[in-house]
Amino acid sequence: MITWRDKMSIDNGGVIDQDHKHLIEIINRFGEIAADGLDKEEAAEILYALKFYTQTHFGREEQLQNLVSFPYADAHHHEHVNLIKTLDTAIQHFKESDGEQQERLHVEIQEMLHDWLINHILFSDLKMQMYVDAMKKHASIFGALKDLEVDVT
Ligand SMILES: [Fe+2]
Ligand SMILES: [Fe+2]
Repeated sequence: MITWRDKMSIDNGGVIDQDHKHLIEIINRFGEIAADGLDKEEAAEILYALKFYTQTHFGREEQLQNLVSFPYADAHHHEHVNLIKTLDTAIQHFKESDGEQQERLHVEIQEMLHDWLINHILFSDLKMQMYVDAMKKHASIFGALKDLEVDVT
């Protein structure tokens, strides 16, 4: 179970924070489903939903970074690409697994997702913090600010 902490905040509750909170919710949901026995279909669906939302979020971050010539954009992009690859591999292994092996994978994937998201937010996304004001200024030009009102509850 991942708990949101203020030290993870990048844009003071804006679109990036909301995306991260939503990703945490999806990962937590993946962890909770085993409580009444593991439903493979449901678990796989959650992983696909996570992949979809992660791609949307990564695209949004990269778009905002490009607007302000974020100096770490290339390295950040590579990290995003690798995270998606890791997630793809995890989904593939999970789909091919059965029984005990699947239960073990369910736990391993949770741990992996936890490190994956938290480390990326705290070590890489946090570098965007001082560019947020500039991002917001530019984003209003093409309406990306409307994303700030996304309701993830
Ligand atoms: Fe992020
Ligand atoms: Fe990122």
